[in-house]
Amino acid sequence: MQILRTKPIAAFQQDIATSGLKKSLGALDITLLGLGIIIGTGIFVLTGVVAAEYSGPGIMLSFVLAGITCAFVAMAYSELAAALPVAGSGYTYTYSTLGEIVAWLVGWGLVLEYSVGSATVAVGWSAYLNGLLKSAGIYLPQALTAGPMEGGTVNLPAMLIVWFITGLLVRGIQESARVNKILVFVKVTAIFLFLFFAAPSIDPANWQPFLPYGWHGVSAGTAIIFFSYIGFDCIATAAEETKNPNRDMPIGIISSLTICTLLYMAVSAALTGVVPYTELNNAEPVAYVLRHLGYSFGSALVGTGALCGLSTVILVFLYAQSRAFFAMSRDGLLPELFSKVHPKYNTPVEITLIVGTLVSLMAGFTPIDIIAEMTSAGTLFAFICSLAGVMMLRKKHPELKRPFKCPALYPMATLGLIFCAYIFSNLSAHTFELFGTWLTIGLIIYFAYGRLHSALRPGSRAHAAHAARVAAAEQRAATEAE
Ligand code: ALA
Repeated sequence: MQILRTKPIAAFQQDIATSGLKKSLGALDITLLGLGIIIGTGIFVLTGVVAAEYSGPGIMLSFVLAGITCAFVAMAYSELAAALPVAGSGYTYTYSTLGEIVAWLVGWGLVLEYSVGSATVAVGWSAYLNGLLKSAGIYLPQALTAGPMEGGTVNLPAMLIVWFITGLLVRGIQESARVNKILVFVKVTAIFLFLFFAAPSIDPANWQPFLPYGWHGVSAGTAIIFFSYIGFDCIATAAEETKNPNRDMPIGIISSLTICTLLYMAVSAALTGVVPYTELNNAEPVAYVLRHLGYSFGSALVGTGALCGLSTVILVFLYAQSRAFFAMSRDGLLPELFSKVHPKYNTPVEITLIVGTLVSLMAGFTPIDIIAEMTSAGTLFAFICSLAGVMMLRKKHPELKRPFKCPALYPMATLGLIFCAYIFSNLSAHTFELFGTWLTIGLIIYFAYGRLHSALRPGSRAHAAHAARVAAAEQRAATEAE
């Protein structure tokens, strides 16, 4: 039953005390990290195709449905992030409840969310940059803007943006948070400007028929549009670097999700209210509508907003991936190198560089469209396990101090589970196959490496390293007390 061993709560508390990461983020930083990751490809790119081909004007309902699902999950994550403010989010929460093998699979699934997600968004970033340059009369050669399986050699802009952001993350979390703030400001301003110009031209007649493809269209649209909410859970990975996680985590998670849901509803109402939904079938619906209204600066405005928006999504995804690997390595499930913290920058430099390199290779050379939906599959899997975990933790550890308690947890988490499973069941058959293969590879790695090197296994290096960290922290505390 080794594979079902759970990590004791006391060990989490020791990890927090000995991590070496710097605590510098406040509630506003957390909310802005949330807006940084949530608003991106979903609203700037996917909305058009979903309105035209799946949901029609009912896309507003798709956004509500995905938003409600995420709200259930966000409440559960807020409770967990405040009670166990440890790097790693869904992975760490399942480790204390459902056991090591499930936790490993959640962490493995999160690679899809964070790494495949950031590569997908980097490719979208490159497409937006290309569009902007074209409108300025600058044409980049196809060989340098598309991967080998898409008629080019390498998607260089996608690789460059990943490297640039990786460099920023290496420099420090505070610097990254500062850049994130500026970029979030630009993208939210672009969205407000769009609403300001589009709202007066809304014609309610365009909202008829409201559900041209019926309820089925709305639910299929929800599975795609779910991508636009992905990322709020990443905020929880910053818990160890937050000054007052007990208060700031719930505030950051819930307020960023609420702001995004309202913005999404408003944008989708404006898009489908200004032009008939059938006209929105393109990758830049927001710019299209502005051009339709005669605001020719529309594409430049939205292009700039989207470039900033997508950069922050990549930033938070890369950040979350390095912190998730950090936590898995500290637990011995990945090599020790992944959890080394740089003495000068106070960031895990090695793992940040490894993640940046892998994601840039994926963005530069793979046909990302084929695997992009795996991002949603990995995220939903982590949500489902974390929702089960939060309920189990209440039963198993009623004594645990919970600075934020999710109201009506059991009905709330159960509804969250049902909604997540429903969206999961609407993903394509191709994604199910790929996801099954991904989990199988994860299981092989776990049995070949993680199970043997786990910090919960007496005699392993990670076990000894954990004991040494705790002893050093106790020694420091004793010296300080003298
Ligand atoms: N929610 C993020 C986006 O829409 C992943 O790009």
